[in-house]
Amino acid sequence: MSKTISGFSKLSKSKKIDWIVNTYFSNTEEAKRILKQYWNSNDKLQQLHDEFIENTISNYYLPLGVAPNFLINNRLYTIPMAIEESSVVAAASKAAKFWLDRGGFKTTVISTTKIGQVHFMYHGELNKLKSFFNDVKPKLIEEAKPITKNMESRGGGIIDIELRDKTSGINGYYQLHASFETLDAMGANFINSCLEQFAKTFKNEALLFKSFSEEERQIQVVMSILSNYVPDCLVRAEVSCPIEVLNDNDLIVGKDFATKFVQAVNIAEIEPYRAVTHNKGIMNGIDAVVLATGNDFRAVEAGVHAYASRHGKYSSLTHAKIEDGIFTFWIEIPLALGTVGGLTNLHPLVKLALELLHKPSAKELMQIVAVAGLAQNFAALRSLITTGIQEGHMKMHLMNILNQFEANGKEKRLLTEHFKTNSVTHNAVVDALNKLRVNN
Ligand code: MEV
Repeated sequence: MSKTISGFSKLSKSKKIDWIVNTYFSNTEEAKRILKQYWNSNDKLQQLHDEFIENTISNYYLPLGVAPNFLINNRLYTIPMAIEESSVVAAASKAAKFWLDRGGFKTTVISTTKIGQVHFMYHGELNKLKSFFNDVKPKLIEEAKPITKNMESRGGGIIDIELRDKTSGINGYYQLHASFETLDAMGANFINSCLEQFAKTFKNEALLFKSFSEEERQIQVVMSILSNYVPDCLVRAEVSCPIEVLNDNDLIVGKDFATKFVQAVNIAEIEPYRAVTHNKGIMNGIDAVVLATGNDFRAVEAGVHAYASRHGKYSSLTHAKIEDGIFTFWIEIPLALGTVGGLTNLHPLVKLALELLHKPSAKELMQIVAVAGLAQNFAALRSLITTGIQEGHMKMHLMNILNQFEANGKEKRLLTEHFKTNSVTHNAVVDALNKLRVNN
């Protein structure tokens, strides 16, 4: 039976664990052992993790893998990926190798603007609000100077603030719609601090604005928050080559491969059921690098899927064409990322991942992440239109099944060998393992 508890966050870590295991587990010692098994023996490192969030009771591990041989704008990268899905890193590595021999990936950052909004209610004459906004705008920027000073000295800061009339959606609803350049920072704290300052200045100044009536003066700020929709923080990555060199291990000739590939992408462009899965595969690559580099994958996910629906229907993030015998495959994707601030300065593995990527600027990281997404999609479509996805997927999943049945080192070795030439299904693995065990 569950219980409520007050003051939980104030308990020590071991008291928190005591409460949890006593409340929820029959085998309390086993539950404790599992939680503690994942504590780091380095107390300082463990404390760092304890202090990332509230109520930490243990660490949750994900594998950190690497995909080498990515040639991006003629520079070689080994890309770090934090992910649990068995086939993702292998697929990325395969795609990297495939394009390494065909000119590699070409990328460009299209734009880097981020958005934040102060949402407020005003019931009065629009013209008066407009003239108030024009009056107060310099002061909004001026009073945010203590926050923007450092960012400005590095070349970033507030780009603009607009007044937006949203009354067609909600009676009395307006916005201060602000745009920002946050350079190498993801910028969430910077943007939110600016917005909260705008809101303060805006409200205070409204009280003093002579043309407003008493009611008009009472501007009500509902909230001030950045937007994770960043259609103007956009990066493009592409691969291209003559169709003849697309030949895939004699499985399919280049022309047929290219044609089928473009068809597969076209399907994802017009069919939302397919587009979601297609984009999920892209996010396999994107999230894994975003996570490994200490960025906020929830923000990226929300922004990316909104972008995929920007024309009113959910659609593919990648596109492909054949023109004059040249196959081109590309992605255009919004990515608000940082390589300074947040976890990037704190988490030792994140620092290592960034060093592995040649300490990229945020713009460079946008390009690397977009490439990871494109490569992942290439690998998935390549399998889907040739052998089918299960062959490679199940090969990679083999080790998970063996682990589930607690196969020992010898069993793993023998069965990995066996399944090089036999198809992997859950039943086939269980049968093979049982046979091996009976015979030994
Ligand atoms: C599996 O995680 C991702 C795929 O389903 C993507 C796709 O279908 O394109 C293989």
